[in-house]
Amino acid sequence: MGDSNDPNFVLTGVMGWPVAHSRSPTIHNHWIAQHRLKGTYALLPVQPEHLHDAIKGLAALGFAGCNVTIPHKVNAMKMMDIVHPTAKSMGAINTIVVQKDGALHGFNNDGYGYIQSLKDVNPHWKADAGPILILGAGGASRAIALSLLEQGAKEIRLVNRTKEKAQELAQEFSAFGLGQVNVIDWQDRNDAMQGVSLLINTTNQGMHGQADLDIDIALLSDEAMVSDAIYIPLETPLLKSARLKGHLTVNGLGMLLNQARPAFKAWFGLMPEITPALRQAIQDTF
Ligand code: ATR
Repeated sequence: MGDSNDPNFVLTGVMGWPVAHSRSPTIHNHWIAQHRLKGTYALLPVQPEHLHDAIKGLAALGFAGCNVTIPHKVNAMKMMDIVHPTAKSMGAINTIVVQKDGALHGFNNDGYGYIQSLKDVNPHWKADAGPILILGAGGASRAIALSLLEQGAKEIRLVNRTKEKAQELAQEFSAFGLGQVNVIDWQDRNDAMQGVSLLINTTNQGMHGQADLDIDIALLSDEAMVSDAIYIPLETPLLKSARLKGHLTVNGLGMLLNQARPAFKAWFGLMPEITPALRQAIQDTF
């Protein structure tokens, strides 16, 4: 961590409400210690009505930047001086970098983190290998779907309990002129698995404390990969059943770890690695 009176001490953190559960301090402080850097990554609990003041205070407080998490990702974007194109398309930021002159630049590394997590498990993964089925139409779904389209996905099947939300997302994506996004009824989710190369759960079902996701993966072909944005537990009931059926599986921890890398690079000047020791440090917090 080093001496916080040092003028080169790098201040970072994560703004959210609530934010106590965030694993980001464990990740970034692990890298700070590993590379013997001077700095820290703090939890910044900020109530929604204080978001504007908190963000405007970053430069005055000497912060290099911070992450932004639920429920601030959309509103924080409006307070940036410059928003990176990917974040603009997503309509949300997850990272702020304070420039030397105090200007605030907003980024969204969630999609990058997701794609990288697939490549970590399968280096040959290609977005256009076949149709992709996404369950859920919230913030995680939006980031993941957009990054898949940007990577060249030709067909995304979007299924959500509330169909209107999926339709809204699909309509938004059609404006980008990328691949096709087809909305499918929630009741047809099992049939929609036929022929897909990748199945993704972005709903909260299967998360610690929630019910299991109500699906049947019998129709999924053997080569299909199965991924879950959830990382508590690391292996959701969906991932367990997929693994037992022989599918390659990807849990949500990879996305969390990979989205953190470019943010750390922006603040501290070096691209950190995802090591077994880091994965262990996170698992020790569960
Ligand atoms: P995030 O930003 O993490 O994606 P979110 O915006 O709250 O979270 O989205 C949660 C997703 O889980 C939504 O797609 C939600 O479906 P609805 O749009 O119908 O609410 C989905 N979800 C929540 N509870 C569910 C349930 N019991 N069965 C199926 N889907 C559910």
